Amino acid sequence: MTGNSISNPVVELLKSHRSVRAYEDRPVPEEICQAILEAAFAASSSCFMQVTSVIRVKDPVKREKLSVLAGHQKHVALAPEFWVFVADYHRNTKLAPDFDLGWSEQLLVGCTDTAIVAQNAFVAMESFGLGGLYVGGLRNGIAEVAELLELPEHTLPLFGFAFGWPAEDNEQKPRLPMPMKVFVDKYEEVKKEDLAAYDRTLGDYFAHRRSHPKQSSFTQEVSAIMKRERRPFVDAWLKKFGWLKG
Ligand SMILES: Cc1cc2nc3c(=O)[nH]c(=O)nc-3n(C[C@H](O)[C@H](O)[C@H](O)COP(=O)(O)O)c2cc1C
Repeated sequence: MTGNSISNPVVELLKSHRSVRAYEDRPVPEEICQAILEAAFAASSSCFMQVTSVIRVKDPVKREKLSVLAGHQKHVALAPEFWVFVADYHRNTKLAPDFDLGWSEQLLVGCTDTAIVAQNAFVAMESFGLGGLYVGGLRNGIAEVAELLELPEHTLPLFGFAFGWPAEDNEQKPRLPMPMKVFVDKYEEVKKEDLAAYDRTLGDYFAHRRSHPKQSSFTQEVSAIMKRERRPFVDAWLKKFGWLKG
């Protein structure tokens, strides 16, 4: 279902989102970082369990190691700020010694709540004119990341969050049209002609964007990513860290 929309400054900010991977070489003032953290942790929390922690990585040696673990993403080392969002049931295990963890639902809650906290942080960050990027690539080295950050059982380094003053201005990536993803009362299969039209739109964006232009389409991108398990070691790691029963 689509229709006319109205706007306000928050909606405009959200609609102007784009990831930023290059930053000016100047720090983000601490009071801005504190404001971002306060906005982040004002988010809703399932059963008010508050199962999220943030590790601000300031040590340049650790930053360099995380950058490599994330698949040589240089912005992890170079960003003025790099935070790791951690799903964290560990803190609560101290309060409830007879806890029963290892159920998929707890994994879903930990990841959902942590992502919601993080997105509050992302929007707050952008509201200051800063730019940033989520770094799920950290999970390429999930075991090493956990070790480097001295994470205990029942925690999970979900993704990183790099940000600073933008030194690039990327074009926005065109999203799937609303009729392909917003339905009324029941699920609708994608229409072939709508998908073909979106493939052309995104293909055009890929071909003409300033940074890393390429020949591709939505179908090609999704097919390449979905044809194999990306991080097969995560399952064993989740069992080791108490998120799933062994
Ligand atoms: C959870 C999550 C993890 C991501 N991890 C990475 C990453 O490791 N490296 C990267 O360059 N982009 C990463 N991204 C950014 C996406 O590639 C980006 O949001 C998407 O291509 C849309 O572009 P836009 O954010 O500029 O609109 C991640 C995004 C999300 C939501």
